[in-house]
Amino acid sequence: MARYLQIHRATQDVSVLHDRLDIPGLGSLPVNAFVLHAQQPVVVDTGLSTDDKDFVAELAEVIDPADVRWIWLTHPDRDHTGGILTLLEAAPQARLVTTFGGFGIFGCQYAVPMDRVYLLNPGQDLDVGDRTLSCLRPALFDSPVTTGFLDRKGGALFSSDCFGAPLPTPDLAGIDSVASVPADDLRAAQLLWASADSPWVRDVDRNRWPDRVGAMRSMAPSAIFSTHLPPAIGVPDALWDTLLEAPDGPEFVGPDQAALEEMLASFEPA
Ligand SMILES: [Fe+2]
Ligand SMILES: [Fe+2]
Repeated sequence: MARYLQIHRATQDVSVLHDRLDIPGLGSLPVNAFVLHAQQPVVVDTGLSTDDKDFVAELAEVIDPADVRWIWLTHPDRDHTGGILTLLEAAPQARLVTTFGGFGIFGCQYAVPMDRVYLLNPGQDLDVGDRTLSCLRPALFDSPVTTGFLDRKGGALFSSDCFGAPLPTPDLAGIDSVASVPADDLRAAQLLWASADSPWVRDVDRNRWPDRVGAMRSMAPSAIFSTHLPPAIGVPDALWDTLLEAPDGPEFVGPDQAALEEMLASFEPA
């Protein structure tokens, strides 16, 4: 199988396994999975779920899959579940960290033995040997079962879909640091994603929203690792500021049938 992931070590503790989705009308959306190199190694999400992708084979460049102890599934959307079943096979000691609802939704299609599952709710902690991971619900999410976590030792916040940004080009989607994305592009992409992926944000109580964002910000993460954003090491203030703006950002409306037909017609030879 062809290689498809771009892999790099973003911090001492975190490897990024980067893929992307090019979405017409939206942009190039990073689709990242991560390895947290804790004493008990943690794989955070497992990439896109298409048959041409062998996640475990590429993970082996970063860590022996047999050494993985935890597979943290932030939520069972198909851009997060790609390698789960093969990784559970390759990592006999690993347990799948999810919620009751996450297990239920994933279980509608795939059987995971109960003894391979570890149910963890926002507000609870997971001990991974040399550090504690504090489970949280990110401010923005597109699945009610979404969790992220703060690594209490390394300081990194794993935010799942929150902070996502479909960027103007594949090159920007694949860069090693969000600091290299032009500020205007980043802000527009972050607002677009907030509306497209969490359309409910437009209905939130404007008086309470700053507290939702503040709950994450007050953790003072040293880095943010979102599935759908290049790594944010040092966490620029602009990321938080744009998140605060999300309820009042432009509303995303997807292409309709007329737009689709227009697009298809443009593909036809003259
Ligand atoms: Fe999602
Ligand atoms: Fe996602």
